[in-house]
Amino acid sequence: MNIILLGPPGAGKGTQAQRLVEHYGMRQLSTGDMLRAAVKAGTPVGLQAKAVMERGELVSDEIVSALIGEELDAMGSGVGAIFDGYPRTEAQSASLDDILAARGRKLDHVIELVVDEDALVERITGRFTCAQCGKGYHDKFEQPRQVGVRDKCGSTEFKRRPDDNEATVRTRMAEYRAKTAPILPIYEARGIVARVDGMAEMDHVTAAIESAIGQKVTH
Ligand code: AP5
Repeated sequence: MNIILLGPPGAGKGTQAQRLVEHYGMRQLSTGDMLRAAVKAGTPVGLQAKAVMERGELVSDEIVSALIGEELDAMGSGVGAIFDGYPRTEAQSASLDDILAARGRKLDHVIELVVDEDALVERITGRFTCAQCGKGYHDKFEQPRQVGVRDKCGSTEFKRRPDDNEATVRTRMAEYRAKTAPILPIYEARGIVARVDGMAEMDHVTAAIESAIGQKVTH
């Protein structure tokens, strides 16, 4: 199964993608994570992307589509993909069709996380991740069970993203409205869009997504 999680910055795409990975063994393909890894490693892609990301603008379509193709090639063919933060433009949407067709895959569902933008600034500026394993937390909504210690891996190091400040978040939201929201009708015309209330409590959002994709976790 191949799924797109679509929604503005802070809608919960990464949070829900991690849960689908845990529940179904699918693979999360986050172009944001791939780009941050490239920036950290100082690769040519990272050097090109760094300033663009810090401004909250979009990196070039060619770069992100190439990254997605490489990641899909590195995955087993029987493993489902969750596209998190990709596609973000009409050109990326067209590229994804080609990328999937070339690998004998098809898109099954597009989940639109419907959210209240004003609440997202609080979500984004309050979030942090484990520096070791990448698990996401939030100052207000999801603290580690023991303060300062990561639940599973026991790490005590956490980090925050440089683009998670209010000014950059506003630019990222404007980019979403101008370039990403307009791709929804492409998928609506195919009848594969499900709308999920992204403002609901996290477990309810997960349950709604699982219902939309016809899966139910059994643990
Ligand atoms: P990217 O990393 O994709 O960031 P984004 O789309 O802005 O999305 P976020 O990661 O900020 O939010 P999210 O929806 O995953 O929310 P999360 O689950 O963390 O992109 C970063 C940059 O890279 C872009 O600006 C661009 O420059 C570049 N880029 C990436 N992809 C690109 C592409 N395809 N083309 C061009 N450029 C690209 O949740 C947020 C917080 O809220 C968390 O703390 C979480 O705990 C909390 N939360 C989540 N759900 C709930 C809930 N239901 N209730 C309460 N709290 C919740």
